[in-house]
Amino acid sequence: MFNSELHTMTLSEDGSYTAYSKEYEEHYHSTKDGALHESLVKHVLTVMQVKEKQDEIVILDICYGLGFNTLATLLYFKENNLTSKLRIYSPELDEDLVKSLQSFSYPKEFESFKEIIDDISEYGIYQDEQIYIEVYLGDAREYVKKFVHKFDIVYQDAFSPSTNPMLWTKEYFKDIKRSIKDDGILTTYSISLATRLALYENDFNIYLNIGESYRDATVASLSCLENFKTVDMPHKIACNPDAKSLRD
Ligand SMILES: C[S@@+](CC[C@H](N)C(=O)[O-])C[C@H]1O[C@@H](n2cnc3c(N)ncnc32)[C@H](O)[C@@H]1O
Repeated sequence: MFNSELHTMTLSEDGSYTAYSKEYEEHYHSTKDGALHESLVKHVLTVMQVKEKQDEIVILDICYGLGFNTLATLLYFKENNLTSKLRIYSPELDEDLVKSLQSFSYPKEFESFKEIIDDISEYGIYQDEQIYIEVYLGDAREYVKKFVHKFDIVYQDAFSPSTNPMLWTKEYFKDIKRSIKDDGILTTYSISLATRLALYENDFNIYLNIGESYRDATVASLSCLENFKTVDMPHKIACNPDAKSLRD
C-alpha cells in the first residue's frame, strides 16, 4: 500500500501521479508541469544534451522522493539506446516512503523498470552490468560530504527553499561544489534569487532553463556552458541589493 498516512497521491497535468506531503505541505512535483514531464524537461533532457556522449555518467539525485528523476534518466537511456555506464547516488530521509514505492502508481513509461523500483524500495540498491543505483536512507547534508569531484550531474530537487531551507543554503552548495566535477551540471526548478545567489557565491555560473511547455528553471555549472542563456547575476544583485542567500 502506498504510504497514505503522510502522503496522498495527486494526478498531475501530464497524466502522471505525484504525491502531496502532509508533513511538508507541498507536492513532490509541479502539478501544472506534470511529474514525469517536469523530471524530463527540468532535469534529464537538460543535462543529457551535454553529457550523453560520456562513457560514464555519475549523478547525484537530491532527493530520491518518488524516484522520478532517477527513473526518467533510465527512460532517457532506454529510449536513446545509450550504452554509457550510469551511476546514480540519491539520499532520502523518508525510509517509509521508499519502502512503500513498490505500490506507487507510476506512469506506464516506467513499467519496464518495475524490477529496479522494487529492488531500490526493498534493498536501497539496484545493479546490473550498465547501471548502479544507490539510495541512501539518511540526511542529504551528511551524504554529500562523502564525495569529492565525483558527479557529472546534480539534480537539485529538494522541497522548496521556504519549506526545506537546509538543502538550499550557501554552506550546502559549498559541499555540492566540492562533490561536483569542474564541468558538472546542476539542474533545479528553483528560480529564486536566494538560490541563485547561494550558487553564485560558490563560483557557479548561473543559466536559464526555459521552454514553452514548462515554467522557467535554473542550470548551474562551475564551467561555461554554451547551450544555455546566462543569467546576469551582477545585474540582478545591483537591482536587488537586499537579496541574500540562505545560510545554515
Ligand atoms: C521534492 S521531494 C523529491 C522529489 C523527487 N526528486 C521525485 O522525483 O519524486 C523532496 C524529498 O526530500 C526528502 N528530504 C527532505 N529533507 C531531506 C534531507 N535532509 N535529506 C534527505 N532527504 C530529504 C523528502 O523526504 C522528500 O522525499
